[in-house]
Amino acid sequence: MSKKIKLGVVGDPIDHSLSPLIHSKFGAMNGMEIDYQPFHVVQKDLIAFVKDFFNNGGHGLNITLPHKLNCVRAADILSSEVELLGAANTLSKNQDEQIIASSTDGLGFIRDCSDKNIEISNKRVLILGAGGASQSIIPAIARMNPAKLMVDNRSPNKISILLKKFSSFNLERFERNDEPIDLLINATSAALSGPFDWDIQNQLNKETIFYDLSYGKASKKFFSWSSQFSKNRFDGTGMLIAQAAFSFQLWFDTFPDISNIDLSNVND
Ligand code: ATR
Repeated sequence: MSKKIKLGVVGDPIDHSLSPLIHSKFGAMNGMEIDYQPFHVVQKDLIAFVKDFFNNGGHGLNITLPHKLNCVRAADILSSEVELLGAANTLSKNQDEQIIASSTDGLGFIRDCSDKNIEISNKRVLILGAGGASQSIIPAIARMNPAKLMVDNRSPNKISILLKKFSSFNLERFERNDEPIDLLINATSAALSGPFDWDIQNQLNKETIFYDLSYGKASKKFFSWSSQFSKNRFDGTGMLIAQAAFSFQLWFDTFPDISNIDLSNVND
């Protein structure tokens, strides 16, 4: 009898994670027997849980909110991206049984943009939000050489912190002027409160592409605001699938075929 490969995702809460479904599909497509479980772990138990998981035959973990920062403390080796971000979403193990922390969110975002023909190079890109979600994509976008990469946030002091943290990249504070924005990325959790609104008006037009890092119902408020400017809109489902595929690649050295993964019935 074959032994299933132990994988999982750790978060708090974890009930709504789509990662088990996505990775089961990847496993089935690649003829692998994987056992990918959602693990509800509170912060005080995180490090012990991770160590225990890998010491007991675990092969790989995804890490989701609110543990992306803290999980780094459980790792022996940090990828260069994790060194930069201070956060990780994927843990794997090397031949010496060391735990490696990696981040696949930025790669997932870029891959989804490429799959959807959303251009970044030479484009004017504005990210709304300065939290973990925003930070996770900044280096990857900056490496694509946009004409401008700008950030705006409800709390201005956090923009200054971000500009300092990513000083090796050409990240700028958003200036309200007449220059049109090509790609507007919502990396805020504003949809959790009231209706979405942002003071940008005359820099948005029907060519602007609106991309929400969240997906399903969570994107509805952002899209109902963006629809006054443009029909070009994408939620974060594609990024979710692509970042999972990069995790799968870290664990198994193979990038799964993501062209036919359909989450349209489940991502609300
Ligand atoms: P995440 O890890 O999802 O990025 P986070 O680190 O808590 O979560 O960051 C949430 C982001 O959404 C922040 O940029 C936050 O703005 P503040 O820095 O001003 O708190 C932004 N945000 C949350 N609620 C918002 C709202 N109602 N309007 C505008 N921005 C909001």
